[in-house]
Amino acid sequence: MKTELLDGGSRQSIEKAAEILKNGGLVAIPTETVYGLAANAFDKEAVVKIFKAKGRPVDNPLIVHICRFEELYKLVKSVPQKAKELAEKYWPGPLTIILPKADTVPDEVSPGLTTVAVRFPSHPVARAIIDAAGVPLAAPSANSSGLPSPTTAKHVMDDMNGKIEAVVDGGACDVGIESTVVTLAAEVPRLLRPGGITLEQLEAVLGHVEVDPAVLSELKEGERPASPGMKYKHYSPKAEVYIVNGSLPSFKYQLDSDPREGDAALCFDGEENGLSVPCLSFGREDRSSEQAHSLFDDLRKFDEMGARRVFVRAPSADGVGLGVYNRLLRAAAFKILNPPVIYGLTGQSGAGKTTVAAELKKKGYLIIDGDVLARKAVGDPEVLKNLAAEFGEDVISTDGTLVRSLVAKRAFASEQKRQRLNEITHPAITKLTLQEIRNNFEPYMKGAVIDAAAIFDCELPKYCTKMIVVTADEAVRAERIMKRDGIDRETAMHRINAQKNEQYYIERADIVIRNNKNENLADQLSEL
Ligand code: TXA
Ligand code: MG
Repeated sequence: MKTELLDGGSRQSIEKAAEILKNGGLVAIPTETVYGLAANAFDKEAVVKIFKAKGRPVDNPLIVHICRFEELYKLVKSVPQKAKELAEKYWPGPLTIILPKADTVPDEVSPGLTTVAVRFPSHPVARAIIDAAGVPLAAPSANSSGLPSPTTAKHVMDDMNGKIEAVVDGGACDVGIESTVVTLAAEVPRLLRPGGITLEQLEAVLGHVEVDPAVLSELKEGERPASPGMKYKHYSPKAEVYIVNGSLPSFKYQLDSDPREGDAALCFDGEENGLSVPCLSFGREDRSSEQAHSLFDDLRKFDEMGARRVFVRAPSADGVGLGVYNRLLRAAAFKILNPPVIYGLTGQSGAGKTTVAAELKKKGYLIIDGDVLARKAVGDPEVLKNLAAEFGEDVISTDGTLVRSLVAKRAFASEQKRQRLNEITHPAITKLTLQEIRNNFEPYMKGAVIDAAAIFDCELPKYCTKMIVVTADEAVRAERIMKRDGIDRETAMHRINAQKNEQYYIERADIVIRNNKNENLADQLSEL
């Protein structure tokens, strides 16, 4: 069959689409939520064709679309007051209401059920087509079963070309996720699928609305959902999708601690440049409606990119975000990752970082000694080779180890040389540190702490949700250094003066811990 692409902006196309529908054919139509695959709801044979074209499980009921409120009376047994109030407030719009079905609606629309789902879309092209067809239209989302719902005519063509009579192009769908589905056929109104009309908006009309457990959790083996569509895998690109909880630095850790070929990320606007894998952004972090609008398009794009694993920043599940989160849970088949929260711990020499680290360890944090890892990183053969090429073969001693003093001397001769040293060593230090966290972090731990004197010189702060800086008065620091290293005051002061001053650290800190003599460290750390 040749699938015709019709322009939703022309009257002729609307007439043509209506003609096909009246004759028992299938037409994909734009709505404000997603594209629907429509057939005359009263024509059994046409309805059956929808299931075939989509490869849809036969027990998954369809939504019937109308273009006037009064048409609801032809589809349901009776219209309760609450349905009238809902319709008054949110129709036309992204809301589907389930009510006991009238006998005139063929069983094929709601196989095995005594109810029917009805929606009055707001999209002008959808309304014009329903009106011109003169019958209510049964229409599920116009994707192949299991794939993300289509939000452009191109998406529909990708899935349905050759399987249906026509696709009407009405541009990109505004909402981007399917309608909110609420049932009024139960004793208490129940939200079966979250969408563009929020739970709060429903409750403003209905009072208490129960949220079906299938909205946020996986059905157990053999469990029967209130909405049959909930039990199927959905919205999935070919890639494995993972939802990643936590902050942007934890997300970066997730991506970089175990990188693999074909990794990609779905992030919030403005985060793309800081990530090390190909990424798409799906809207601003605090704008659920933007995320809804672009989610399905992005999920399809990952397939075009050939992504194998897609890591997704977890959206907030409030308002329209509940719908976004619900679709992502299904796209991810409920795979949710909780990477550790990482903190950086640093400060001037003698400030007492080690004491603070010990305190954090007692509180249940994994402590990573960054200074030890920095030394280990320069033992890496690749790093050694690059250092010899940059600073001279003689920086490698006869036993193959690095002559650190020689590298230091040459590197500190010029700013440019110092930068080269960092370029060679920092990627190795970062890699080793992330590996160390990955190998040692246990789920029962509260977080991971990277304890490193020179942390602000390297890339590691990008993985840290917060930076903890430990400070102490100069006199106290001098005493500690003298005692620790067995040196005199003059040498200790010389060292202190060679370091960055306290201000430098404080400016970069999220949390400052005072560690003179009698301060209570545990109290100061309770902020974590
Ligand atoms: O926004 C939308 O609702 C789009 C556009 C095209 O209107 N349509 C849509 O249809 O998303 P579909 O078939 O992909 O999703 C319909 C959902 C399914 O989860 C189905 O199980 C549920 O609604 N549903 C339909 N009739 C039902 C009924 N009588 N009882 C319980 N759930 C029902
Ligand atoms: Mg669907």
